[in-house]
Amino acid sequence: MMDDSKGRCQHEKIVEPCGPTDRPGGSSGRRLDQWMSLRLTERKKELTQERLARIREALSARSIVLIGLMGAGKTAVGRRLANRLDLTFTDADSEIELAAGQTVSEIFAEHGEPYFRQGESRVIARLLQGGPQVLATGGGAYMDARTRANIKARGISIWLKAELPVLLHRVRRRGNRPLLASGDPDKVMRELMEKRYPVYAEADITVESRELPHDVIVAEVAEALSRWLGCDTKQAAGKGRGKA
Ligand code: S3P
Repeated sequence: MMDDSKGRCQHEKIVEPCGPTDRPGGSSGRRLDQWMSLRLTERKKELTQERLARIREALSARSIVLIGLMGAGKTAVGRRLANRLDLTFTDADSEIELAAGQTVSEIFAEHGEPYFRQGESRVIARLLQGGPQVLATGGGAYMDARTRANIKARGISIWLKAELPVLLHRVRRRGNRPLLASGDPDKVMRELMEKRYPVYAEADITVESRELPHDVIVAEVAEALSRWLGCDTKQAAGKGRGKA
């Protein structure tokens, strides 16, 4: 249930779905155990669906904005998160490419990074008008003060924070990042981490991105979001409600 005045969830007590009288009569021992474990699994699924529905409702028109370095998993996690929340997924870099009629690498090569950054900031400002959605941004987007302010006004920022080896392992698989096209990726990524991590730390929520199946990270993001929005049935009201 929503508390519309605050745009956050009200809490409902979890009521166990059934008591001993609902159990199938006559069965005991193993069959009862099986039945109980089935009910528990069903209940867990229901709660997950419930949690996702509450997140969606509490979001209202806000976007969930994923930020983080190249290789943090913003697109992969974002796509899955959108799917689970039944929201549109938007990739800012793809939208920039669409608007420019060129790939990000081509824009960097032909017009330079400052030109790309201007377009990036404009495109993200436009995309943020289209919430609710899950929006994955390029690694440099959040470094722009105007973009940060826009995200704060119209979205909830989630930093997918990853250690250097994880990022390097992932970015080495693809050669489509102009910032890594020349020079030592290890050195470039270290420098970017030093410069960007203190700024990324301004995000509303931080989730550690690790070498785990994307669905695990997606579940952690959903849990963190639910807490931040005050939707978590198990959380006491108030925790994570300070930020709006
Ligand atoms: C960049 C990251 C890229 C892309 C561009 C610049 C950056 O996006 O926007 O190459 O400055 O970190 P991903 O983070 O999705 O790779």
